Amino acid sequence: MRTLTLSRPDDWHLHLRDGPALAAVIGDTARRFARAIVMPNLDPPITTVAQALAYRARIIEALGKCGVSTAFEPLMTLYLTDHTRPAEIEAACASGVVHALKLYPAGATTHAERGVTDIAHCFDVLAVMAERGLPLLVHGEVTDAEVDVFDREAVFLDRVLAPLLTRFPHLRVVLEHVTTEQGVDFVRAAGPGVAATLTAHHLLLNRNALFQGGIRPHHYCLPVLKRERHRRALLEAATSGNPKFFLGTDSAPHARHAKEAACGCAGCYTAHAGIELYAEAFDAVGQLDRLEAFASHFGADFYRLPRNAESIRLVERATEVPPQFPYLTDDPLVPLRAGGTVAWTLEA
Ligand code: DOR
Ligand code: ZN
Repeated sequence: MRTLTLSRPDDWHLHLRDGPALAAVIGDTARRFARAIVMPNLDPPITTVAQALAYRARIIEALGKCGVSTAFEPLMTLYLTDHTRPAEIEAACASGVVHALKLYPAGATTHAERGVTDIAHCFDVLAVMAERGLPLLVHGEVTDAEVDVFDREAVFLDRVLAPLLTRFPHLRVVLEHVTTEQGVDFVRAAGPGVAATLTAHHLLLNRNALFQGGIRPHHYCLPVLKRERHRRALLEAATSGNPKFFLGTDSAPHARHAKEAACGCAGCYTAHAGIELYAEAFDAVGQLDRLEAFASHFGADFYRLPRNAESIRLVERATEVPPQFPYLTDDPLVPLRAGGTVAWTLEA
């Protein structure tokens, strides 16, 4: 039986939600990861440092009750809006707890209604971020209804991100959950301040998974799964040893009834196997020895944070995934691989 020892990894893109949902999911991440970049798309969103501090306190409180004893640090982010002021960026830099701002194009995804309607509204704020080195985390999709949903990332790169980096060449950017060959090529060709996170589900699944014998709402996320050619490009980037590509699960819990609906929410819950699924993906292409740098080194280096000193151990032994987890009252959470298995297990 093979085993794999890694420096404890970090999750550079995570949705923790709030209240009972937060309490239900926090343990899965804290058991595996030392730190996580926590997305600010609550309803209402986290737009100020004061709100981020209060949200952080709620996360720490939930951590204390989740029964996990290893240390876990939530790294907070702010939700960029048309109305964010440069003073908020200064406050974020001074706070020591806010590590980035998140750009959601208005309407692009879950709770993106208050997102940015036109990036030009943010130029004053982005100038300060570029000067201070505070990263901009990008949901890289246009929202134009005329653009095919499978092309929205590629069009965003041409229409929004490329011109933005021409205007602000020193802006540090993470193209979150990159899903296409074009996205990977863009990040590779850009300067050292531009990086990308990759999810396990985009490394493991292509768009056929949305229609396996019927419609599969638990495989629906945004950006939507792409064709096999793109999945292969992502896997190649993840296992290439290029430090611009690092782990970000985008684990995004939604209650079963919000997913299994006439108009279901986007998001895959993967935190229950947040590192194990990546081990599967890397092993499938014979690159397990590249996992540690991707999961535990490159993200910390990009965020200018120390690498973790502790380690975790994975064993190649199948773990059964329950059909559902408790989540909200009378509304459970269906995880990725529900009722199936994951090939690697985290040792206690
Ligand atoms: O699938 C997704 N779910 N994509 C996002 O961008 C947001 C996320 C969520 O918050 O549920
Ligand atoms: Zn996300």
